[in-house]
Amino acid sequence: MNNMQKILSFILVLSLAVLGWNCSSSEDKERQVIDFNNGWRFQLGDHPNAISADFDVSNWRELNLPHDWSIEGNFSEDHPTKPEGGALPAGIGWYRKAFRLPTEAKEQSIWIEFDGVYRNGEVWINGHRLGIRPNGYSSFKYDLSEYLNYGDNVNVLAVRVDNSQQPNSRWYTGSGIYRNVRLIRTGKVHVEHWGTYITTPEITDSSATVNMEVMVKNEGSNERKLTVRSTILDAEGIEVAQEEHALTLGKGGSADIMHHFTVPSPKLWSTEQPYLYKVVTQVFAGMQLMDDYQTPLGIRYFEFDAKKGFSLNGKPMKILGVCNHHDLGALGAAVNKRAIERRLEILKEMGVNAIRTAHNPPAPELLELCDEMGFIVQDEAFDVWKKKKVDADSHLFWDEWHRRDLEDLILRDRNHPSIMMWSIGNEIREQFDSTGISITKELVRIVKELDTTRVVTCALTENIPSKNFIYQSKALDLLGFNYKHKDHKNFPKWYPGEKLIATENMSALATRGHYDLPSDTIMRWPQSYDKPLETGNEDWTVSAYDQVSAYWGSTHEETWKSIKDQDFMAGLFVWTGFDYLGEPIPYPYPARSSYFGIVDLAGFPKDSYYMYKSEWASDTVLHVFPHWNWEEGQEVDVWVYYNQADEVELFLNGESLGTKSKEGDDLHVMWRVPYEPGTLRAVSRKDGKAILEKKVFTAGDAQKVTLAPDRKIIKADGKDLSFITVSICDMDGNMVPDANNMVNFEIQGEGKIMGVDNGYQASLEPFKANYRKAFNGKCLLIVQSTKDAGEISIRATSEHLQPGEVVLETVD
Ligand code: GAL
Repeated sequence: MNNMQKILSFILVLSLAVLGWNCSSSEDKERQVIDFNNGWRFQLGDHPNAISADFDVSNWRELNLPHDWSIEGNFSEDHPTKPEGGALPAGIGWYRKAFRLPTEAKEQSIWIEFDGVYRNGEVWINGHRLGIRPNGYSSFKYDLSEYLNYGDNVNVLAVRVDNSQQPNSRWYTGSGIYRNVRLIRTGKVHVEHWGTYITTPEITDSSATVNMEVMVKNEGSNERKLTVRSTILDAEGIEVAQEEHALTLGKGGSADIMHHFTVPSPKLWSTEQPYLYKVVTQVFAGMQLMDDYQTPLGIRYFEFDAKKGFSLNGKPMKILGVCNHHDLGALGAAVNKRAIERRLEILKEMGVNAIRTAHNPPAPELLELCDEMGFIVQDEAFDVWKKKKVDADSHLFWDEWHRRDLEDLILRDRNHPSIMMWSIGNEIREQFDSTGISITKELVRIVKELDTTRVVTCALTENIPSKNFIYQSKALDLLGFNYKHKDHKNFPKWYPGEKLIATENMSALATRGHYDLPSDTIMRWPQSYDKPLETGNEDWTVSAYDQVSAYWGSTHEETWKSIKDQDFMAGLFVWTGFDYLGEPIPYPYPARSSYFGIVDLAGFPKDSYYMYKSEWASDTVLHVFPHWNWEEGQEVDVWVYYNQADEVELFLNGESLGTKSKEGDDLHVMWRVPYEPGTLRAVSRKDGKAILEKKVFTAGDAQKVTLAPDRKIIKADGKDLSFITVSICDMDGNMVPDANNMVNFEIQGEGKIMGVDNGYQASLEPFKANYRKAFNGKCLLIVQSTKDAGEISIRATSEHLQPGEVVLETVD
């Protein structure tokens, strides 16, 4: 068939399907995936009677999911989450949603899917208890069909969320139904939940073999003769392969069927060109479409090699990754796809090509975006096994739940082409005793029963082979080590023949826009994990020259230098891409969020971002810092990160301060300059020719507020966001580097404020507010659209300053 014939045949299939839908009985409808996030009622505290439909919730708050009640609270040292957990409230909360279903839905299979509820999500439908899920990061579903009402009779879903047992995490978790919820309606014969599995065992230039397992179930009252038809569509929607499989399923029966496709001249998925196909699976009884189901497909192959490191599609490359926790700064843990996408855009621009989902199953949207944007993923299951790290962490339900939690992660995620590594744990205590051997073997077995196409790793800290019992299990495909940059060179000797990756590194510390002089002394803070910092700054800031790290880590430059030429290392993950809530090492309260990010909590890059960019990205980089507002005569260290040039010349007020080049393994050049106000100018040159020029001006007094949205046009879908950078500037538009003015926001039209932030790790201002102090010149306003297309007018005022204004457009 030529392409046109294929398109026609696909249109025919679809039209038949639609006809089938029209004339089918009501039990035979294709899948409806219904966004079930809107119209919930919520109340803090425990309300056991709320499981009953008669219980009056009219005075409960109305809200839409995803929702995180912790992020709405005020900071306090006394919250049982402690500063390590973000110093925000936790506790118990209840959600309720009432809904109706049409009478014809009686003949359908109906279930509800929760992507994640933190934690102990316990669900009732019409008073029937469906179950509880202790692990706050696991996705789960419940069949509802047998308990539902139809027609005029209302259904009531009630969800109790219990995050009261604290501390249960070493970082901020959020509380509530913080991920998406969907209601699924299908025909009684349907593809199972997470019911497909795609592998690509053979890939050449001319063809790819694609195998697909489809799990089909008959929940109807009769035996059915079925056809399962799966069609691979390319990125333009053109059919490239199709397979059909006929079967008969008795009442209550289920079957796994296999498709074997050949895709001619496959376009491969890579981090630079993440080409995606998709597979549409349709289940027919005769001509009637009973269900349809989509599975993403990326065709790629990869290899980890003990000597040569990592390669993707036969091309050697280094995994240049970051670890990230799941919170989205001012939005808390409440999932928003655009907020995740913005973070990934910022990281992509820096040259990051991989994400480690530290230390738990991520939101499905993160994985969809990694597929689409070209990030390799290390999907991580656990931070603890049987042995606890904090009192109420998941060790409490390990025995009962670990198999299910791990299986569900693999079943949910195994079709994402971006995932190339499964991690069964982070810095697990059992590596230090012999129980590590049997648990590792068990977990690896669980993974391999469901997927053998990725490597299984674990992030280890004990690097003496005889002392590491997870290693002793010999069950891992890839050894991951955290913070062992000083020992890497010995690894090929200590671990002969093993494949290696540096799963976690650096833990360098910085506050955006804050600089301590001199810049060339390296500091390790704190001196011991449990001891408070004896030195440090009174305002809980940390220098953003790359000079401070946790004592178990290194500066950004130290580890990157040691790893970049180690071919046997598949790559590395930096701790972390973004600052996150909780774990404010090295400071005590009021510090309440981490200092480890290359980018701050608000999404503003710190300076080391540009070191990575100069090394990892293909763009030309010239980054000059710090700001140029100091005391007259003070000696200031000027650092420059650059690439694609031989040298940089620095000028102060037109006078050359000399030309410098990186020597040996240098990653920056530095000038020590007696300060005088004016203009710093740097020029990078290659073969004597100017490549880039950058200027840093001494800013005058604060005069105005400026607003710079990341996008001026957003979707009118009630979800999309615009991230507006708010700067305090002098008359010429230079940001005032130490400005901390209070900014008030007024918003009108089809939008609302979702959050405010300024990236300052010790700010105790709330994230849900219409005001924010600038920190080191900047703050952030996050605006969300309503469902109506129109305009959003935003005005930012600050005492004595000229206000800033911007108008956004929201479109259908
Ligand atoms: C690691 C740990 C991370 C984080 C980090 C801070 O040991 O795996 O979760 O705590 O330290 O430096």
